[in-house]
Amino acid sequence: MNGDAVQNTLATRFTGLDFVNPFVLASAPPTESKRKILKAFESGWGGVVTKTIGLHPVENVAGPRTIFQRASEAKPYVSRAKRPDSVSHSSWNWELISDQPLEQWLPDLEEIKTTWPDRMLIGSIMAGAGGVEEMNNWRKLAVACVNAGCDALELNLSCPHMDRKDMGAHIANDEEIIRSILAAVTSAVDVPIWVKLTPSTSTLTDAAGAAYAAGASAISLCNTFPSLPLMDPETMKFEVEVDGLTTSGGQGGLAILNQALQRVSDISRAYPDRSISGIGGIKGFHEAFNFIVHGAGNLQVCTAAMEEKGSGGIGVQLIRELTTDLSDYLARKGFSSIEEFRGIARERIVEHSKVRRKSEAYNGGYVKSA
Ligand SMILES: Cc1cc2nc3c(=O)[nH]c(=O)nc-3n(C[C@H](O)[C@H](O)[C@H](O)COP(=O)(O)O)c2cc1C
Repeated sequence: MNGDAVQNTLATRFTGLDFVNPFVLASAPPTESKRKILKAFESGWGGVVTKTIGLHPVENVAGPRTIFQRASEAKPYVSRAKRPDSVSHSSWNWELISDQPLEQWLPDLEEIKTTWPDRMLIGSIMAGAGGVEEMNNWRKLAVACVNAGCDALELNLSCPHMDRKDMGAHIANDEEIIRSILAAVTSAVDVPIWVKLTPSTSTLTDAAGAAYAAGASAISLCNTFPSLPLMDPETMKFEVEVDGLTTSGGQGGLAILNQALQRVSDISRAYPDRSISGIGGIKGFHEAFNFIVHGAGNLQVCTAAMEEKGSGGIGVQLIRELTTDLSDYLARKGFSSIEEFRGIARERIVEHSKVRRKSEAYNGGYVKSA
C-alpha cells in the first residue's frame, strides 16, 4: 500500500458499540426470525434491531400486512398495482409487533449472538405504560434480552398502529412516560439504550431531549409515518382493506426520506453531541450519506431490504452495494471514516429568514408601520 494513502474503514463506533459497518437492518420483517437474522449477518449487515418483542398477545389483521407502492412516469399515480416501467415509491403496513413469544425469542437471540459475536444484536422491546405492572414488563423484557446476548436495546415508543392506547406512538408525546420507561429499563440493565420515536408529533425535539436526559444513548428515527392506503377509483376499494374497512398504518421507503431527514436534523441540531440512528427511505449510498451529514452515526434500513427480490427480504445485494459504495466514497474523498463528514450539514440548515433574498429591501413580509 502507498504510504500516503489514507486508511479508510467502514468500522463505526456507535453508542460505545463497535460495528463492522454502520448499516443495520431495522426492526421489521427482515429481523423477525432467527433464520432471517443469521442470513442477514452472513450477507454482511453490521447489526440488526430485532422485530419488536413484547409480552402482550398480538394478532394481525386478516389480510396482507404490508404493501409496496410504486409510481410510474407514463401514468404517474401511486399504486400497489404491478405496472411496467414503475419504480418504488413507499411501503405501507399495519403490522403489529412480533407475534413470536419472548420464550421463543430468547434461545434464538443466544444462538444468533454466539454464531456472530462481532455483529451487533439490538433487541427491540415494547410494553405498555399503564402503571407499575407495565414498568415491570419493560424491566422483564430488558433483562431477558440482555441476558440472552443483546448488545443494546431499542425501546419502541413509536409504532403508529398499536391497538392499545398505552403503547407505541400513542405515548410518544408524554415526556413523563418516556422518563418512567427509561428509569425502569436503565435501572435493570447496563447496555446502551436506543429510543425509537415517532415522527408524528410536534414535540419530537422535546421528547428526544427527555429521553437523552433520562439515560438514552441514542434516538432512532424515524418509525413509519401514520398514513392511509389509497382507494382505487374503479373498484372503490382501498388498496389494503379487510371487509371494506381500513385504518391508519405506517408509510416507509423513499417517499419518507426528506421528511425523515428533517426530523433527524431537528434533533441533531438541538443535541449535536448526542447519537442518532437514522432511518427512513434508505435505499442506497445517497440516502445513507444524507442521514450522515445531518448527524446520524448509524443507518437503519427496512423497506429497501424487504423489496429486494430473491433476497428473502433481507437485502443481500443491498448490503453489498451499501458497503462497496461507502467504501469507494471514503477512498475517493480521502476520508478515513464517516466521522469525517458526519454532521457537516448542521450549520447550513438555518431559519428561513436567514436565507438571502434577491432584494435587500425585503423585510420578511411585514407591512412597515408608518
Ligand atoms: C412491515 C413493517 C413492520 C415494521 N415493524 C416494526 C416493528 O415491529 N418495530 C419497529 O420499531 N419498527 C417497525 N417498522 C418500522 C421500520 O423499522 C422503519 O422504522 C420504517 O419502515 C422506516 O424505514 P424504511 O423507510 O427503511 O422502511 C416496521 C416497518 C414495516 C414496513
